[in-house]
Amino acid sequence: MKKMSAKRGVSKSENTGEKAKRLVLLSKLGRILNSTLDHQEVRRRAMEAATQLMKAEVGSLLLIDEEKQQLYFEVALGDKEETVKKMTLSMGEGIAGWVAQNGKPLIVNAPGKDSRFFRGVDERTEFETKSIICVPVKEKEKVIGVLEAVNKKRGERFDRGDLSLFVSLADQVAIALDNARLYQELEEMFFQTAESLADAIEKRDPYTGGHTQRVTAYSLAIGRHLQLEPPEKRCLKIAAVLHDIGKIGIEDHILRKPEPLNKEEYNTIKLHAKMGAEILEHIRQLRDIVPGVKYHHEQINGSGYPDGLKGEEMPMIAKIVAVADTYDAMTTDRPYRKALTKEKAIGELKRCSGVQFDSKVVEAFILAYERGEI
Ligand SMILES: [Fe+2]
Repeated sequence: MKKMSAKRGVSKSENTGEKAKRLVLLSKLGRILNSTLDHQEVRRRAMEAATQLMKAEVGSLLLIDEEKQQLYFEVALGDKEETVKKMTLSMGEGIAGWVAQNGKPLIVNAPGKDSRFFRGVDERTEFETKSIICVPVKEKEKVIGVLEAVNKKRGERFDRGDLSLFVSLADQVAIALDNARLYQELEEMFFQTAESLADAIEKRDPYTGGHTQRVTAYSLAIGRHLQLEPPEKRCLKIAAVLHDIGKIGIEDHILRKPEPLNKEEYNTIKLHAKMGAEILEHIRQLRDIVPGVKYHHEQINGSGYPDGLKGEEMPMIAKIVAVADTYDAMTTDRPYRKALTKEKAIGELKRCSGVQFDSKVVEAFILAYERGEI
């Protein structure tokens, strides 16, 4: 008797220790999930968290496509990632479909004996489901998806302890997805507002129809080949959209003049770079964009404006917008001159590479051009 109670005591404390560890893990995973606002990254982290917390072989997040009334596997980790990623299930189909439709969690430790289990996924992925735990992901009581973990490691069964932890994780996933969605909506609204502003400027200048859009597309193509990081790409995109925003402060008779500008007029139009920066400086969130707008007419040999920056003094986003902007100006008709052919414009970029333009940026532009991206 004595021996047994001692044994029981050890087992109980091990159990409690294990529970505490998993609660700590849950809290850590929740923090990781909520430390990004990137929707795709939240989905990826949700998969990782499901796999890790449930000690499972594979974790998946299935999101509901309201229109098609389908569930789709957004991301899945493990060896079968490529296959599982493309799968869809109808609402009500399979364990995940049942959970999505009923909004209730489910553990199935013998899928072969459960009529709700859908063999199609296993057959198409050559994966054998031995046990599955599946919980709804709810945003304000509305089921938006399903979080599942498949095959508990060491052949163990999923139990009620797993379930309560998994439900808590699903709540964290829902919050992270909601935050990311709201942020994405804000970002989209912001880009659209910036595009509308740029469009308002273009409407005043009849010779530059579509200029902003093209400069933005060329800039992003260059950025891809320079392998910029996502935050730099974001800055570049906004800077390209808003690069000529300062033209709002230039009088119509200069901006709309069909003939070439005289010296004085040219000096006036040059002010648009600085004015653009002054306009944007009021917005704290756009601080990183300002250099791209202010310096898009600088040249690396120091003969540009407004500050005559040289070489590396010129910020990367400004170097990129400068090439994109000049190429578009060269390949667009003006009332006082015909557009250059693309080949001639490329020749000009090459000729001025290392003098007016950064040679790496020109290289990236040409690469994008040769691949038909420009
Ligand atoms: Fe400009």
